[in-house]
Amino acid sequence: MVVGRPSSSSVARAVVLLAAAMLLSTLSPCCCASAGQLEARLTEEYAPSSLACRVWPVVRLRGGWFRLWFDPSVVVAPLTRCFADRMTLFYDSVADDYRNAPGVETRVSDFGSTSTLRYLDPNLKLLTGYMNVLASTLEKAGYEEGFDLFGAPYDFRYGLAGPGHPSRVGSAYLERLRKLVESACAANGGRPAILVAHSLGGLYALQMVARSPPAWRAANVKRLVTLSAPWGGSVQEMLTFASGNTLGVPFVDASLIRDEQRTAESNLWLLPAPRVFGNTTLVVSRHHNRSYSAKNMTQFLRDIGFAEGVEPYRERIRPLVEVLPEPGVPVTCLVGTGVDTVESLVYGEGGFEAGPEKVVYGDGDGTVNLDSLVGPIKAWSDSPEQVVEVVELPEVSHSGILKDKSALDQILRIIDAINLNATTSSSSINRSSQDVLYN
Ligand SMILES: *[C@@H]1O[C@H](CO)[C@@H](O)[C@H](O)[C@H]1NC(C)=O
Ligand SMILES: *[C@@H]1O[C@H](CO)[C@@H](O)[C@H](O)[C@H]1NC(C)=O
Ligand SMILES: *[C@@H]1O[C@H](CO)[C@@H](O)[C@H](O)[C@H]1NC(C)=O
Ligand SMILES: *[C@@H]1O[C@H](CO)[C@@H](O)[C@H](O)[C@H]1NC(C)=O
Ligand SMILES: *[C@@H]1O[C@H](CO)[C@@H](O)[C@H](O)[C@H]1NC(C)=O
Repeated sequence: MVVGRPSSSSVARAVVLLAAAMLLSTLSPCCCASAGQLEARLTEEYAPSSLACRVWPVVRLRGGWFRLWFDPSVVVAPLTRCFADRMTLFYDSVADDYRNAPGVETRVSDFGSTSTLRYLDPNLKLLTGYMNVLASTLEKAGYEEGFDLFGAPYDFRYGLAGPGHPSRVGSAYLERLRKLVESACAANGGRPAILVAHSLGGLYALQMVARSPPAWRAANVKRLVTLSAPWGGSVQEMLTFASGNTLGVPFVDASLIRDEQRTAESNLWLLPAPRVFGNTTLVVSRHHNRSYSAKNMTQFLRDIGFAEGVEPYRERIRPLVEVLPEPGVPVTCLVGTGVDTVESLVYGEGGFEAGPEKVVYGDGDGTVNLDSLVGPIKAWSDSPEQVVEVVELPEVSHSGILKDKSALDQILRIIDAINLNATTSSSSINRSSQDVLYN
């Protein structure tokens, strides 16, 4: 059934791609992000903020589902506002959970399929288009959608929380992912699946395997392959929270987008983690006469005018990011390096509204700092039974890992090596970086 692959059916294992995998607000400026396909439906409760939102898009008047993310018409100013309203999440402190805006229902369609990865016009250079390139690369190598290739898109606005806090949407995703992995294995003679996750998808995948019983992991997951996973968050997120990030989409009002982006739980999850960034100064505000490290995040959120974020950050996110659980399955982390990445920001007398006066760059993949890409997983390699491999891809950016030919070749080689039951060390992968990371 599978052709063109040396391993063929005898050792072929299913590959599950954590699609929609993206760091919503922290992409390098040359491109913008997308998740698979987030659809929305508006109910009676929906209160349009303008006439445009009342009538756009037409299908919604019939109570139908329409594409919320990504719809290119958001670049039209009045519609940017409708888009932002509908994307906005609310933290309900009584329920201790996030929910959609009133009257907005959302769903991620085509779970399990990779077709959502193809949904967008690749000419728009959206990240989904890049996921599409990876899926196509795997298909050319003989993997077949629905047989041994599956997509696992998620609603990237939501996140997970620390122990004891509910996360209705995020937990449901983990459960769905678990079921998908099981059925992918069942469809492949019970052989365990390879999970491939990009960016935030890596954090979800880690939580899924770490929260599963060891017997489940052993039976169902052959290896977790992460691409550009921001294990300890990213300094660029602080810029997003302070100033907004139009994700490279032209003509969009950054401040409208900023307010919406601030409400996404996943963005809090991706703030620099104290465990990784310690008390290094990341942001200075001359207006406030203060400097902020990852340990000062609640003060930072207050000072940028986002006090609403303090409680969910403190109660839900900080306990979540305090520890990076061991996956308990072999892991291969591919990381881009050598690309200028925001390392610190200085805001002047004009305060946060005026934008940064000075941006200092350091090493990373252009979005995620090197310390966050590789530092946190060092601890895993202390356990003798935890297999961790790091493959460094010089000059490959956060999303470039999904489109640069050399990176794609490397990913394919790794997946083939896993399927051939070889360890990556016996393949031609350049592992020189690992010596640096683990000695
Ligand atoms: C940073 O924190 C460590 C311990 O957490 C402490 O020893 C050190 O003095 C601190 N450095 C600064 C500059 O505050
Ligand atoms: C700024 O803070 C420092 C101590 O953190 C203090 O010595 C200085 O007087 C402050 N300056 C202003 C203008 O408030
Ligand atoms: C940041 O945290 C450090 C150590 O926890 C503390 O000494 C400092 O006052 C804090 N700064 C701000 C601006 O909250
Ligand atoms: C392949 O790997 C599995 C465990 O991952 C091992 O049990 C099996 O013996 C290996 N087969 C070969 C041919 O190396
Ligand atoms: C391996 O990577 C290092 C830098 O990370 C580079 O200098 C070296 O040429 C690479 N070797 C091969 C065989 O690609």
